[in-house]
Amino acid sequence: MSNFVVQSQSQYDQLYKESIENPEKFWGDFAEQEFAWRKKWDKVLEYDLSKPYIKWFEGAKLNITENCIDRHLATKGNQTAIIFEPNNPNEEALHITYNELAKNVNKTANMLKANGAKKGDRICIYMPMTPELTYAVLACARIGAIHSVVFAGFSAKSLSDRINDATCNVVLTADGGYRGDKITPLKEITDEALQSCDSVEKVIVLNRTNSKIAMEYGRDVWWQDEFAKASDECPAEVMDAEDMLFILYTSGSTGKPKGMVHTCGGYMVYTNYSFRNVFQYEEGDIYWCTADIGWITGHSYIVYGPLSAGATTVMFEGVPSYPDMGRFWQVVEKHKVNIFYTAPTAIRSLATCDISLVNQYDLSSLKTLGTVGEPINQEAWDWYNNHIGKGNCPIVDTWWQTETGGIMITSIAGVTRDIPTYATLPLPGIQPCLMDENGNELSEGEQEGRLCIKYPWPSMARTIYGNHQRFAETYYNTFPGKYFTGDGAKRDSNGNYRITGRVDDIVIVSGHNLGTAEIENAINEHSNVAESAVVGYPHDIKGNSIYAYVTLKNNVGSETINDEIKDLVSKTLGPICKPEKIQITSGLPKTRSGKIMRRILRKVAANEMDNLGDISTLLNPECVEEVIKGRV
Ligand code: WT7
Repeated sequence: MSNFVVQSQSQYDQLYKESIENPEKFWGDFAEQEFAWRKKWDKVLEYDLSKPYIKWFEGAKLNITENCIDRHLATKGNQTAIIFEPNNPNEEALHITYNELAKNVNKTANMLKANGAKKGDRICIYMPMTPELTYAVLACARIGAIHSVVFAGFSAKSLSDRINDATCNVVLTADGGYRGDKITPLKEITDEALQSCDSVEKVIVLNRTNSKIAMEYGRDVWWQDEFAKASDECPAEVMDAEDMLFILYTSGSTGKPKGMVHTCGGYMVYTNYSFRNVFQYEEGDIYWCTADIGWITGHSYIVYGPLSAGATTVMFEGVPSYPDMGRFWQVVEKHKVNIFYTAPTAIRSLATCDISLVNQYDLSSLKTLGTVGEPINQEAWDWYNNHIGKGNCPIVDTWWQTETGGIMITSIAGVTRDIPTYATLPLPGIQPCLMDENGNELSEGEQEGRLCIKYPWPSMARTIYGNHQRFAETYYNTFPGKYFTGDGAKRDSNGNYRITGRVDDIVIVSGHNLGTAEIENAINEHSNVAESAVVGYPHDIKGNSIYAYVTLKNNVGSETINDEIKDLVSKTLGPICKPEKIQITSGLPKTRSGKIMRRILRKVAANEMDNLGDISTLLNPECVEEVIKGRV
């Protein structure tokens, strides 16, 4: 057992102290002991957060797939790397060993090369949760191409925006993706997206659903054909630690999504470190993270973290509600899952179902539970603890972000204490702090403020693809010298953190990070819409939901306007962005400089009308009354 995997509260305290006193020694020792490097670094860390300028393990050479695959083969070649559980419970599950993973990734890598992909290219992956998605991600890493996975629930417009932003030359997709009793027409959506993407030269299409699709001659090829032709040997490209590993888009406060850039060395080191510590993964454990690889949770804790640790990771293609709401628990029983990691929104929706959907399954294999993506409320925590953990499993509430690359604040399963509704303590190596509105750090102890991280960690995002200026402005200018998370948090006298939610224009809906500006832009495309303001409001199951205030041109609408707006948003950005409530109003409250006062609109949407604050300074205070009266 590595001395970097914490085994007791006192060891946590000790390691935390060491990690702060000498971060370079801490990370340098861990990186040296636990990974296969082609060449060691010249310097562990170089940084200047005012620029920001961040380099970890400069000069080191490696390939992350040698750490996720090759180095395990001598001892674990026949161990299952991936358990694939299909959408349809009657389709056979697959157990893919590390030996098989090696061959499949190499074949996929050669397939990519044969279709024009090379080191440094950006490859867009728009695929369902099949094993081929994991092979594709790792195949890119193997040849030094930069993957940009786009969640297969996104629309054609979102897909084309992301492809264009990164000028991808190859797209990997499937004919369709199974989702419960439906099929998402992925190839059709890709075809629509590619009408506005000039950079794409090749589309490789996995046949997953036998859907009838169009293939464009010269551009589109079938995955299975190309894969069959490819050799199963592919030397790993030797990468610099700071070479880009991937781009992953996340919503921003302005309309345009941000392509967060993660690099090879630091990301590998931190996802491995955090996976092993937080979940206390032991040899032979079956680990299941229910996220989609289209999100950072899937990148870090389905693929890279678990595989670099030599774990057995479950990939689930389906949804929690198909064929019924007992599906998660059926899969836990079937594969004897030991560690289960999911989102509070899933827990809340499953908690509303008949408890027999849980109790008919044997969940005794479970020893650790986790949550991620949004704050977990006490009721959901209690249900998870009582009905799933049977009061016997630690629950790690893991706070982190696409930008942080890995889990930052959490309890350590069975080692440090978990406290319902608190993410609790930073992992060793992570230095959070709370800031007040004037930019001062709040002294230790019980405090509430804006959550920042005041010292670099290896998996921090290095930039926004193609826009370093925006990266600096979004994360490093608000509190100079510190990374600003966009979250608010409270801290108790023992140093435990409780995340209170976003303090910017991002709303977390069912664990998905949505930018309100992007939704407003979509609504404003409607020909009758003059202006809109989108805010989040509390929702029992989703955590938050979307409330849109809309003004119409000449105040003229139609009976179907609400449905039209919902359809438009759904079509433009994807169904997850669809407003739950729409209020048509003749005006939006504005400051004298013309800025929409979203603070007031948020309070109205949340039905907190008694403390709207001072509205007398508004340009149009009279419209507040109308907004309140018209609340839906
Ligand atoms: C935002 C980041 C990290 C993977 C999934 C989301 C919220 C995340 C927690 C938690 C309270 C949480 C924050 C954060 N969040 N985990 N355990 N408790 N809030 O990644 O899409 O980049 O969203 O999710 O608001 O800023 P993301």
